[in-house]
Amino acid sequence: MTDEVRWSPATADEEIEPDLRAAFAREIGGAPDGVWAAPGRINLIGEHTDYNGGWCLPFALAHRTYCAVRTRPDGRLRAVSRQAPGQAWEGEVDQIRTGSPGGWVAYVAGVVAILAQRAGGPVGADILVDGRVPVGAGLSSSAALSCSGALALAELVPGLAAVDRAELAQVCVRAENDYAGAATGGMDQTVSLRAVDGHALLVDCDDFSLTPVPWTLPGHEVLVIDTRAHHSLADGQYAARRSTCERACRSLGVASLRELHGADVDEVLGRLEGDGEAQRRVRHVLSENTRVLDLVAALGQEDAEEVGRLMVASHVSLRDDYEVSCRELDLAVEAARQAGAAGARMTGGGFGGSALALVRRGDVEDVAAAVHEAFLAEGLQAPHLLQATPSAPAHRLS
Ligand code: GLA
Repeated sequence: MTDEVRWSPATADEEIEPDLRAAFAREIGGAPDGVWAAPGRINLIGEHTDYNGGWCLPFALAHRTYCAVRTRPDGRLRAVSRQAPGQAWEGEVDQIRTGSPGGWVAYVAGVVAILAQRAGGPVGADILVDGRVPVGAGLSSSAALSCSGALALAELVPGLAAVDRAELAQVCVRAENDYAGAATGGMDQTVSLRAVDGHALLVDCDDFSLTPVPWTLPGHEVLVIDTRAHHSLADGQYAARRSTCERACRSLGVASLRELHGADVDEVLGRLEGDGEAQRRVRHVLSENTRVLDLVAALGQEDAEEVGRLMVASHVSLRDDYEVSCRELDLAVEAARQAGAAGARMTGGGFGGSALALVRRGDVEDVAAAVHEAFLAEGLQAPHLLQATPSAPAHRLS
């Protein structure tokens, strides 16, 4: 326990790069062909809508995962992480399978395996990773990992020159779904690769078309509260939410809940009578889609109060209808609101991870301190705080 509010600042690209090149020389040998970075994200609103063909509104963080990469001609992959000493992996790319290799390497190996198929010839690489997105915080450190490696290979391997960022995002989704065994829906990889600096990204997950939305609440900051809670039921619960939505689609005779946007919600729920669980999940998804579009409109009006109201409504829906919140997230939201935040909500998949608070610029320190105190008063470990500003997508440093 500590009395100090603990901040997790982003590290500047210029600070990381020389260090990473030196580590590459030491741990792998020689120089990389280049260094790439891909960001983590927060999602302002639109949770558990991506795999239902709906809308979400993420933006890229300045916290990034870095990788130094050198291609090799022998179709082998060597992957080393500065955060996982002793867990380096080396093997044949055409032997990479679901769960083998496992752990953090699966996110990189899956991408390399899929891109090798796409290139139609052997692809091999030496990759050194340095992850600066907090892990387990619901801020998409895994997408930052897969996207940084994917962009590096797409830019280095001549046979991948035609792969654009939209396709690359889908490659990363497949790597996570098919190789790492994470049923992720596409929002995280899309924003990591296709974010627009200074903007939130309205993602239409029906076809992954994008509308950059300027961040028009200049007097306000997004404070991220990493609760440092991770409930182990999370992974199975995510897949369970997806399958309940699929069951609801079958009962309703639609391919995706997106088809019901604008429909009479009570009438739709009436058709799910007898399946209370599906009713609650569908009510969340349909109402959340509407909230995303309303929040974009409120941003256009620079209406911080309405943005805050919609964030709170989203949290309540995720807590009560989608049932993916937890004690720590509810406490973070409640404490931030009591300390004067215009709005607050959980962000990401849930069951731990982070909450967001929309806070007037001059109040950031006070709200952070109040949330910190509230956690200690409940006997919980101190949260980590970070300030989120809409930042650049994945890019090459050198
Ligand atoms: C996780 C997944 C995303 C999305 C969110 C919930 O972050 O990776 O695809 O489904 O949960 O909105």
